Amino acid sequence: MTRIAVVEGDGIGREVVPIAARALCTLRPDWVQVPVELGLERWRRTGTALDEKDLEVLRSTDAVLFGAVQSAPNGEYPSVVLALRRALGLYANIRPVRGKGADLVIVRENSEGLYAGRERIEPDRACTERVITRAGTERITRLACRLTAGRRHLTIGHKANVLAADRFFLRVAREVAIDEGIVADDALIDALCLDVLRRPGRYDVVLVENMFGDILSDVAAFHAGGLGMLPSANLGDRYALFEPVHGSAPDIAGQGIANPTAALLSTAMLLDHLGETDAARRLQSAVGTVLSGGKRTPDLGGTATTRQFGDAVVAELEKGE
Ligand code: NAI
Ligand code: MG
Repeated sequence: MTRIAVVEGDGIGREVVPIAARALCTLRPDWVQVPVELGLERWRRTGTALDEKDLEVLRSTDAVLFGAVQSAPNGEYPSVVLALRRALGLYANIRPVRGKGADLVIVRENSEGLYAGRERIEPDRACTERVITRAGTERITRLACRLTAGRRHLTIGHKANVLAADRFFLRVAREVAIDEGIVADDALIDALCLDVLRRPGRYDVVLVENMFGDILSDVAAFHAGGLGMLPSANLGDRYALFEPVHGSAPDIAGQGIANPTAALLSTAMLLDHLGETDAARRLQSAVGTVLSGGKRTPDLGGTATTRQFGDAVVAELEKGE
């Protein structure tokens, strides 16, 4: 029996994930959804944001559907998102960006770089180490190459003109690409951010280390219509977690106006990952039909509420049955 952990988290996670879970239930009513509470609200209620028992539950399921977790206001608990990535070995973050003239996939290394947690604060200085390992670079590049094999070409984004760690990243990534028979070009990350905006058609699969991927995907979100539109998959060798690229959006949380598209498209990625390609296509096309029919949330210039948009997508799915 397929079991999916469903983590709403905080803020708009609590608004968009229920929509995604409903769509999932419409497509696969036989799948069991296991709710797991994590994050700030949970911490306020219980004093813990995430514990080993939660991880056990997540590890017992076939995939995780995740909303967003709000960071601790004053560092009361360590980042839940980073802890999950570490505990579940989710070393790859796959972020497809589709929009006018853009159809690219950002492959972000998810475990190293400045997010590896090697940092210290002293009275008069602070230091965060940018850790890039051969093993980490090899496994993410192999995954990017596998993705590229079914697509067009690979671009490696980096800052090798300044950072030694990036010269290493670029060298190892190029070696792996050659070994995998994939033609790869490369670009400096700052120039790449601008060029992705100006000439998105030049890019297909873009491989980047952790923080550059974080930034580049928000930049590229411009083509899709904003953060409310971007889905992602966090993959490891054993576990997989699917979540919108956006966070808990405290500025609009509780208003019922968040765009659930990113969460719905993340659910389509989850279905695809579990071999449900037909259900995944149906969900993507239901979202596409509702958007092109003019129903949009305010971030896209419309007036639909989260629920109205979600109802329309679910109605579209039910039509197709
Ligand atoms: P954010 O992604 O939550 O919001 C950035 C901007 O985009 C806001 O103006 C927001 O209203 C808008 N936005 C985001 N998603 C939207 C949607 N679905 N529909 C309409 N508008 C949307 O990023 P921010 O504000 O920097 O972070 C807020 C909190 O979320 C922080 O505590 C941050 O640490 C956390 N966060 C958590 C993530 C996760 O759980 N994976 C990822 C990113 C941030
Ligand atoms: Mg981000």
